[in-house]
Amino acid sequence: MAMADQHWHDYNKNGKKDVFEDPAQPVEDRVEDLLSQMTLEEKLGQLSQIVMEANSDEIHAEHLRRGRVGSFLPAWEAIGKPDLRNRLQRIAVEESRLGIPFLMGFDAIHGYRTVFPIPLGLSASWEPELFNRVQETTAFEATAAGIDWSFAPMVDLARDPRWGRISEGFGEDPYLGCLYAAASVKGFQGDDPVDRRRVVSCLKHYVGYGAAEGGRDYNTTDISEYNLRNNYLPQFRAGVEAGAMTVMAAFNCLNGIPASGNRHTLTDILRKEWGFQGFVVSDWASVLELIEHGLADGPAEAARFALEAGVDMEMVTSSYIDTLGEQVASGKVSLETIDNAVRNVLRIKFRRGLFENPYVDERWQESAFLAPEALRLAREAAVKSCVLLKNEGNCLPLKTDGLKIALIGPLVSEREELLGSWAGFGKGRDVVTLEEGFRAKLGLDACLTVCRGCGLTKGRRTITRTDGSVVEDPDAPIDEVAEQEFTDAVEAARNADVVVLALGEPRGWSGENATRTELGLTGRQEELFQAVASVGKPLVVVLFGGRPMSVVSLQEKADALLMAWQPGVQGGHALADLLFGDASPSGKLTASFPRSVGQVPVHYNGFNTGRPQYRDYRDSTHLPLYPFGHGLTYTTFEYSPVELSSPSLSRGGKLTASCTVTNSGDRPGTEIVQLYIRDVAASRVRPIRELKGFAKIELMPGESRRVSFEIGDEQLRFFDENGNELVEPGVFHVWICKDSASGKPAVFELQ
Ligand code: BGC
Repeated sequence: MAMADQHWHDYNKNGKKDVFEDPAQPVEDRVEDLLSQMTLEEKLGQLSQIVMEANSDEIHAEHLRRGRVGSFLPAWEAIGKPDLRNRLQRIAVEESRLGIPFLMGFDAIHGYRTVFPIPLGLSASWEPELFNRVQETTAFEATAAGIDWSFAPMVDLARDPRWGRISEGFGEDPYLGCLYAAASVKGFQGDDPVDRRRVVSCLKHYVGYGAAEGGRDYNTTDISEYNLRNNYLPQFRAGVEAGAMTVMAAFNCLNGIPASGNRHTLTDILRKEWGFQGFVVSDWASVLELIEHGLADGPAEAARFALEAGVDMEMVTSSYIDTLGEQVASGKVSLETIDNAVRNVLRIKFRRGLFENPYVDERWQESAFLAPEALRLAREAAVKSCVLLKNEGNCLPLKTDGLKIALIGPLVSEREELLGSWAGFGKGRDVVTLEEGFRAKLGLDACLTVCRGCGLTKGRRTITRTDGSVVEDPDAPIDEVAEQEFTDAVEAARNADVVVLALGEPRGWSGENATRTELGLTGRQEELFQAVASVGKPLVVVLFGGRPMSVVSLQEKADALLMAWQPGVQGGHALADLLFGDASPSGKLTASFPRSVGQVPVHYNGFNTGRPQYRDYRDSTHLPLYPFGHGLTYTTFEYSPVELSSPSLSRGGKLTASCTVTNSGDRPGTEIVQLYIRDVAASRVRPIRELKGFAKIELMPGESRRVSFEIGDEQLRFFDENGNELVEPGVFHVWICKDSASGKPAVFELQ
């Protein structure tokens, strides 16, 4: 704390300290004192976040001296440079009139240098506590590199796997989403945001972003208030209640008003209903985008709408600082509105302890990265994220000795691909590939043949489209080298005892602006799969992807199918642990896998129709390929019927639902036991099932465990269109089961 005791601002203040400089004063007093000394330009500066370029010190210095930078986010070349941050911070602190330090924000989403599985994968562990530890490690590494503030977690409910950003969230269920939101906030911020090893967290993207029409990123959303209250808002509220200090306004238009100009959600709900005390940052240029949306006629109007709606800080664009001064002078915008936004930003800077500790320790960086405990955690997280979708005839686990294994596919030796999107400061060289995982497990005398077979995309000549994106030219021929590679792979399969195929989609096909219309394998991989499958050897597929995928042929023809998502830096070791039985799969899906794109949306927690017998398509069942909650392991579990402690319950009371789960196989195993409830008749239609609890239990072969859940108002409530909580009398169904599509319900009545 040497820095905290140093009165770094005193040198230009003749030794007299102001209230805002005294950490012993209450935060609100410090905010008011500082605010009272600020010029309008300095106030608008606090509302501006700009991109930190690596070689623009002079330009930045000019802005900093005038107090025109509230926050920076680094450009690509400026990532991982704590010295640059300190240099610029020194200018803010020592050369600006009031010495207000800037906050350094960054997207540390699922790791900073130690990259963990993507959030959708981590949610499949059904272990929020694991996510908490992951984010704690992420925060630790990020702060070592000079980051104060992570733009995470993304808590957007997502039910459309075409939407590439489904990879960044926790799937299709609001209950699980709330637990993950809270765990993430706590992991980032800890109990004390002043702790230098912690970062300020940011709940995003507020709100409804995941409901983009057609799954096209940034697209319009139309979400009834009832739907919003029950499915999209709860995760944000849980994050706010866990202490999240910032919220990011989304890109999407919500019910006719863009989220970044939406007073109803940003002010009426977030501030007034929930009492949020932190600040709201826009998304990248989303203030100016109010013009393209058709809400504002120019930068001045965009700035006014966003500010008045409740966006405190503008990311990247400069409409606030460029136009609000004049708008205050002309009386169009009140100074009070600006002051309130500035208060929100300063409050977080004080609470973060930024005034006392504006700098970071530059020597700390490298030694903080990839620590042995972090790598152990990355391996544990990857093991727990994978979901065993199919395991016919106990094809897995594989034996480690005596088997001739062909390891085939475009992802067997890939490094960057395993990092997923938003890989922070992650490096391909840190990644353990699947091949390396196999070699480490099997040793030098392993009988392993490795070949790629084909690329992730078709591997044709590329063309540049008018929007600048580079795509494969569909008319170009596939070259001869590719043909040979393909033939070699099929030959390798023929000569093996067992084939492990590593297939999937490129990591750049999920994440931001990465929408797909098809959800299958990319490039020639389906062709490769069919060719290898026709050889007739036992066939294991390890599937990599950032979303639920439609892989009907894999389900039909592979003997075993393991969903690996993008598993992070320890992916290869974790997968080898699972495939060879040193660890058993325990993950369960948090988003349903559709059979085809035509089924989307296919989430488990929808409403019944009046004619549920007619749900099928002419050409397909309505059922997903794999439902929410599905996941197998190397043993089996049996569930006894659900028993209730009482057939009825009075308002405010509790009853217990229990069942006995038995490990009926011959290996130890972990099971995620799930509690679902249905409110059978209510003033508004309720979902056919809703997850309301779960327990992750380990059982030895033959062992049984009684699993009980308490049910009371909390599990039975829902929200009306105005956000009022309703718990309504009547009949409820209760399931305790292995996934969202199985089990028989017990029944009770709420009096
Ligand atoms: C994304 C945000 C991200 C921001 C800053 C935007 O394009 O939507 O999720 O935090 O960029 O990188």
